[in-house]
Amino acid sequence: MFPARWSPRAFLSEAVAPASLDAMFEAARWAPSSYNAQPAPFVYARTETDLERFLTLFVPRNRRWAAAAPVLVVCVARSHFADGRPNPHASFDAGAAVMSFCLQGQLLGVATHVVAAINHEAAYDLLRVPAHSYQALCAIAVGRRGERHILPADLQALEHPSPRRPLERVAFEGTWPPHSVDHSD
Ligand SMILES: Cc1cc2nc3c(=O)[nH]c(=O)nc-3n(C[C@H](O)[C@H](O)[C@H](O)COP(=O)(O)O)c2cc1C
Repeated sequence: MFPARWSPRAFLSEAVAPASLDAMFEAARWAPSSYNAQPAPFVYARTETDLERFLTLFVPRNRRWAAAAPVLVVCVARSHFADGRPNPHASFDAGAAVMSFCLQGQLLGVATHVVAAINHEAAYDLLRVPAHSYQALCAIAVGRRGERHILPADLQALEHPSPRRPLERVAFEGTWPPHSVDHSD
């Protein structure tokens, strides 16, 4: 069931099968997008290629655990439509593509952890992304989930599914919720 997905920090370094990775990118490719503009290409590296280079984009607190992942993906979004008009929904569409990627991974037993805390500026140079038309959004660590104990002690404490607000504080029929429902925390 796809809600069982969560974002681990314990990754095994074993390779992700190319067919699984292809299926995950294929799922991202089929994500819906505003005007079907499909504004969110991915750039990725595997252990066999230049993973170390991609890892330099991760901020130190994320690099600590992401270093073990055998695949690192960077998602960018094209900020304009083909006719030059700004696309205000580009990052929304990119989010849908990223979620499709992650959910397909879940179906295949491949874990993912999205991080937005990356060195965005460095991404343009490092990946040769044209900064005038694309926005570097986030990175995704991809791999098989490992046992909690492979992590340093402080990270072990974080290695569990995160809670969510109850449904009655998420979906409201008819109107915005009354003041008694606090959605700010
Ligand atoms: C846009 C975005 C940015 C995120 N950035 C980070 C990050 O920089 N570091 C991190 O450890 N997790 C990051 N996460 C993971 C979230 O903390 C995590 O998805 C969220 O708490 C829900 O937990 P779950 O994915 O385990 O269900 C990010 C997730 C998203 C969607």
